[in-house]
Parts: sequence; structure tokens; C-alpha cells
Amino acid sequence: MIEIFHVSKTYNGRVALDDVSLKVDKGEFIFLTGRSGAGKTTLLRLIFRAEVPDEGQIVVNDRNLAHIAESRVPYLRRTMGFIFQDFRLLQKKTVFDNVAITLKVVGMPEGLMRPKVMNALRLVGLDQRQGALPSTLSAGEQQRLCLARAIVNDPQVLLADEPTSNLDAQLSAEIFDLLKVVNLRGTTVVVATHSADMVSYLRRRVVTLEDGRVMANGTAEA
Ligand SMILES: Nc1ncnc2c1ncn2[C@@H]1O[C@H](COP(=O)(O)OP(=O)(O)O)[C@@H](O)[C@H]1O
Ligand SMILES: [Mg+2]
Repeated sequence: MIEIFHVSKTYNGRVALDDVSLKVDKGEFIFLTGRSGAGKTTLLRLIFRAEVPDEGQIVVNDRNLAHIAESRVPYLRRTMGFIFQDFRLLQKKTVFDNVAITLKVVGMPEGLMRPKVMNALRLVGLDQRQGALPSTLSAGEQQRLCLARAIVNDPQVLLADEPTSNLDAQLSAEIFDLLKVVNLRGTTVVVATHSADMVSYLRRRVVTLEDGRVMANGTAEA
């Protein structure tokens, strides 16, 4: 599903990833941990093809990202959802429109869009707030909205970058429970997180990065 072969990435001489290899199976749910600056965001962005590696290869759904033309990148991204650390909601658009935008950009007709958006909003418990503006939502609701936006297109892969960094323990657990539901529906999930609590709560495979290298790769101990 996701295969990373000896990937390195440097920013102006600063090493973000150093010879990283990693395999994530279809339907798996893994955590990416490591302190700030370890390379977690860089790795997610490479999988999303928002960046390209200096060295190494990345294969997602049997497609080698190095061989995908720039013009085909939007098609690749349709198979992936991304939850950003800093939400990136459209503040002047409604809850409904913030989710619908994912489908609009891929050219889905309005008639097909509505039921899909409402399904995604229902999953995250925001269907009653479809007409609200993001600024009127709590932090937990805003992150649930980001989740709805990321999964409305039924992605094969969901990438989440510290999705609970702005949330307390209870709201974080809600988000992780939702990520679990998404995973049970067949989506491969990769979550970068600082939260040791969440890692032990879900007990999934944990890949730990340190200074851009994989330091540990195994199932979390309780
Ligand atoms: N766009 C960028 N420009 C310059 N340096 C960057 C950029 N993105 C990441 N880095 C550097 O790469 C390293 C890894 O960063 P990052 O992937 O954001 O780590 P993490 O998400 O684990 O905190 C850090 O040293 C960071 O400063
Ligand atoms: Mg980061």
C-alpha cells in the first residue's frame, strides 16, 4: 500500500529524513512518533507528494511517485486524505461547503455531492451544524470537520499530522475513535502524533523517528 525505500530529504543542508525505509500494509493503522523536528511532517508530505525526496523511492497503491507526472498529481491525491495540524478550514464557507470543496475540486456533480457530504458530516457528528461557519465551532468540532473533509472522497489512505495537538485528552480520544472507525471501513491510516497516551490507548504499530531516521518500528507496549 505504502512503501518507502531509502528515502532522504534535505532542506538547505538541513537533514529532515535520512535513509528512511518503511512499509505500511493495506488497511493498517500506524503511528508516527518522535519529537519535534524528527521528520514526521516531512514523511507525510512526501507520501502525499507535496514534496519529492532527494533520494529513494515512494510507492503508494502500486504507483511509484517518482514516475507520476506533475499533471497527474491531483489524481493521485484523490486517493488520499490529509488532516493538517493547523486545520486550514475556509472561514467564510459553511461546514457543508468546507467538506464539499474536496468533491468540487474533483468535479463531482452537485447531485452526487450532497449525500456524500452529509454522510461524512454524520460520521463525525456535525450533520446538524451543516450551515454553521467554522468560527462558531469548538476546537474539537473543527478537527472533526477536518476529518470529514479528508474522508468524504473515501480515500484509500488517510494521513493525519498531529490531529489532536490542540485538543485535550477527552477530545483527542474522540478523534482517535473516529480514526479507528475510518480505518475499520478499510482506509489505511498513518497518524503523526506526540501523544504517548493515544499511542498506548489504540495499541497499533508505532514507528519512531529521531533526527530523520527510523529508531523503532513495532507494536506499542501497554
Ligand atoms: N520547508 C522546510 N524548510 C526548511 N526546513 C524544513 C522544512 N520542513 C522541515 N524542515 C526541517 O526538517 C526537519 C524535520 O521537520 P519536520 O518534518 O517538520 O519534523 P516533525 O514534523 O517531526 O516536527 C526539521 O529540522 C525542520 O526544521
Ligand atoms: Mg510536524
